[in-house]
Amino acid sequence: MSGNSNGYAVEVERLAKHYPPDIRAVDDISFEIKRGIVFSMLGPNGAGKTTTVEILEGLRSPTSGKVSVMGENILKSCSKIRKKVGILPQDFEPFDLLKPVEAVTYWANLFSIDISRKEVNRRIGEVNLTDRKNVMAKKLSGGEKRKLGIAMALVNDPELLFLDEPTTGLDPKARRDIWRLIEDVGRRGSTVLLTTHYLDEAEKLSDDVAIMHKGKIIAQGTPEDLVAEYGKSTVIVLVGAGRKGLDEVRAFGVQATELDGDVLISCKTRAEMRSCFEKLASLEAPIRDIYTKRETLEDVFLNLIGQKMENGVLQE
Ligand SMILES: Nc1ncnc2c1ncn2[C@@H]1O[C@H](COP(=O)(O)OP(=O)(O)OP(=O)(O)O)[C@@H](O)[C@H]1O
Ligand SMILES: [Mg+2]
Repeated sequence: MSGNSNGYAVEVERLAKHYPPDIRAVDDISFEIKRGIVFSMLGPNGAGKTTTVEILEGLRSPTSGKVSVMGENILKSCSKIRKKVGILPQDFEPFDLLKPVEAVTYWANLFSIDISRKEVNRRIGEVNLTDRKNVMAKKLSGGEKRKLGIAMALVNDPELLFLDEPTTGLDPKARRDIWRLIEDVGRRGSTVLLTTHYLDEAEKLSDDVAIMHKGKIIAQGTPEDLVAEYGKSTVIVLVGAGRKGLDEVRAFGVQATELDGDVLISCKTRAEMRSCFEKLASLEAPIRDIYTKRETLEDVFLNLIGQKMENGVLQE
């Protein structure tokens, strides 16, 4: 795990972090992040996401394991790595009394970057804060504060950007704004390590996902691979078939449920789906449309953990 010409931004081998007396916050995990991709660590509260990310950032020391970031060993080359990464910490709060223009300038100076006012304005424009660039940070909305945090994290043009729960607690519009920024960063070729407990966010933004639970990675791959491997079924949706359609489908011997006037049929195998379509050919109930729907990461999560997750909390 040395040399910086390999294709990985991050390589983690058997990483563990224990807190006394017996908390295994990170419990023997291994993963790699290819350069130039958006990688998500997805998991509920307490899964070990922040602990892992802060070890990669050089802010916490591991109990054991090998970690390299941009081809450098984290224990040996921390200061070298710091210059190449950008960090948005969880629950980031900018300094209350600094305006965005001042905060970005200050942050650049910390990296010994001599930044011009024009460049500061460009960076603030990139995160769509131009209208708010002279407003004290304490008056910014939650979403605007996160955008400012991202502008600050990008000030050294990092090769690798860490975003620890950048959208938690934001309203849907602010979340989508942040998604667009993350997509922009990805398009520019930087690697992004995102942590989240929003399944839709991980599915939409990530090239690769690691699902973390109780300190372990319990599944990893592209969202499509995870759905193919851990999803159980494809659902046939008979739009507008209603109660009459449901009764008819059940009379064919096919299990189905009704949701908002649509009839849903789960098929575990292709053969099952084919046989279903054959039976449906003689359906008499009026239907407005038929389509099939693959399972999502949300179903994968439920299948793996046996519980749904809402706002990071596992539901009973
Ligand atoms: N400094 C610490 N001392 C003791 N235990 C800690 C410490 N930091 C974290 N933990 C514990 O380690 C586990 C993992 O915490 P971590 O913050 O990494 O989870 P997370 O996945 O980031 O959760 P969240 O979604 O709530 O941010 C939790 O059980 C937490 O209580
Ligand atoms: Mg966390």
